[in-house]
Amino acid sequence: MRSDSGRTQSAWMDTAEVPQFPALKEDATADVCVIGAGIAGLMTAYHLVREGRRVIVIDDGPVAGGETGRTTAHLSNAFDDRYLEIEKMHGSWAARLTAESHTAAIDDLEEVVRTESIDCDFRRVDGWLFLSEDDKRHRPTLLDEEYEAAKRAGIPVTLEKSTPIPGKNVGWSLRFPRQGQFHPVRFLAGVARAIVARGGRIYTGTHADSVEGGDKPCVKTADGQTIRCKAICVCTNSPISDYVVTHLKQAPYRTYVIGATVAADAVQPGLYWDTPSPYHYVRLMKGTSSGEDVLIVGGEDHKTGQDDDADARFRCLEEWTRERFPAAGAVVYRWSGQVMEPADYLAFIGPNPDGTPNVYIATGDSGNGMTHGAIAGMLLTDLVLGRPNTWAQLYDPKRVSVRSAGELLKENLNVAAQYTDWVKPGQTADAADIAPGEGAVLRRGVHRIAAYRDEKGTLHEHSAVCTHLACIVRWNSGEKTWDCPCHGSRFDSFGNVVNGPAIKPLGPAPETDHQ
Ligand SMILES: Cc1cc2nc3c(=O)[nH]c(=O)nc-3n(C[C@H](O)[C@H](O)[C@H](O)COP(=O)(O)OP(=O)(O)OC[C@H]3O[C@@H](n4cnc5c(N)ncnc54)[C@H](O)[C@@H]3O)c2cc1C
Ligand code: FES
Repeated sequence: MRSDSGRTQSAWMDTAEVPQFPALKEDATADVCVIGAGIAGLMTAYHLVREGRRVIVIDDGPVAGGETGRTTAHLSNAFDDRYLEIEKMHGSWAARLTAESHTAAIDDLEEVVRTESIDCDFRRVDGWLFLSEDDKRHRPTLLDEEYEAAKRAGIPVTLEKSTPIPGKNVGWSLRFPRQGQFHPVRFLAGVARAIVARGGRIYTGTHADSVEGGDKPCVKTADGQTIRCKAICVCTNSPISDYVVTHLKQAPYRTYVIGATVAADAVQPGLYWDTPSPYHYVRLMKGTSSGEDVLIVGGEDHKTGQDDDADARFRCLEEWTRERFPAAGAVVYRWSGQVMEPADYLAFIGPNPDGTPNVYIATGDSGNGMTHGAIAGMLLTDLVLGRPNTWAQLYDPKRVSVRSAGELLKENLNVAAQYTDWVKPGQTADAADIAPGEGAVLRRGVHRIAAYRDEKGTLHEHSAVCTHLACIVRWNSGEKTWDCPCHGSRFDSFGNVVNGPAIKPLGPAPETDHQ
């Protein structure tokens, strides 16, 4: 399948076909318009059509062309920011509801797979959390504390003396039973077909240009159509309906993944995570056409737009993998993706934080974005239908956690520092230095130019000013995109938006030079 969020191909994109849908060509009406055909959008649309609502889904790329096509799809209630931290940040009630909602999310995904007979290799596996070498030395009580906190939250976790990692004795671990895994693109393809079979409409190649809430909500598309509806669910991974508030409370990170062949049954199926920040995450993709499994290992995260060294990160992942899984063979996949990290650890799922009626968002996925997406499906459906939901307060996008002030300050100082790009020299002094297939930011007087030379040698220039809040974008040579270091907007080499919060493409390169 084609991705619209970068050049690299994930193992899932390479091994699945997604159904094709037309672009919206005329004005339309629906009960609910869902923007975004990733897991959050399609699970929301699916639950709403099952409730008999008339739903339109639009996406500017293909189904699963965003982060859900690049995930590793650990379906887990072993919350990656840790139950201990949730307790400290939000209290024990929140830790219990976090556990309950992520557990319900895995169950819900399993139920959808079964009801719709989706062939996506859904399976239940154990999850194993083990200490990194550093944490073994410096934080030996970490596992015990998380064990107690997870139990208090209601998770049937066990403390194990060993971990089924063949190459290295990583020692004790926490075992989380009844986690899940599946092929995320085949899953979403099945959900998309089910939505249409149940009367929903999906339009791809359809970019939402504005979101208007209130008594008469409507979504306007870049091609000039209007979708009138009673409610809008903005499931664009990074919300395009809220330009500021949410983006001050979460930060975008790039994360990297390799897939290495491994003989069938050489690695025990399971989800594996270690404890540093950033952490590593591991699972298998079973049943490839060659009969081998693919061992999928991720990690090496960094803030979006603030590093451009993908090859080095893939090498680190490979080294880490070979030490722990010596059966790993050739690396056959390398890809990257983006996650939004909320300062207080929990996703933002609910009414648009500016209070505009009838607009809802789902964002703040963190490393648990697949289950957060499934939670969005259940929670947004209840909110749209006016039903109470016990998770509403936990995930309320308006919440302000006083205890997250330190993290918020750190992230927002980091964002502020990115604006100094306006006074720094460009990445390259001269466009002639840009090799085919590469890009660089040039300084031309007061202007910053995003210059990309295509494979045939033609130079394409745009303004390097991000159309969200005017940071200067930077070149991502791994994905061939322009990435904004402030709130994670991303643009393809020709300036088209591939990730919000930006809605508009990069502007044309300024022609005049005002010194
Ligand atoms: C490498 C990687 C590994 C991960 N591993 C895990 C994991 O193991 N477990 C886990 O739980 N989570 C994981 N995550 C997180 C999880 O995959 C994501 O949080 C989740 O897929 C996000 O789903 P989404 O529906 O919010 O966004 P997306 O899948 O990105 O969907 C958003 C859609 O909105 C569309 N869109 C955006 N703007 C517009 C617009 N203006 N008009 C129209 N359409 C628009 C996009 O084209 C896109 O298709 C991982 C993420 C990555 C990148
Ligand atoms: S994403 Fe906010 S300024 Fe670019």
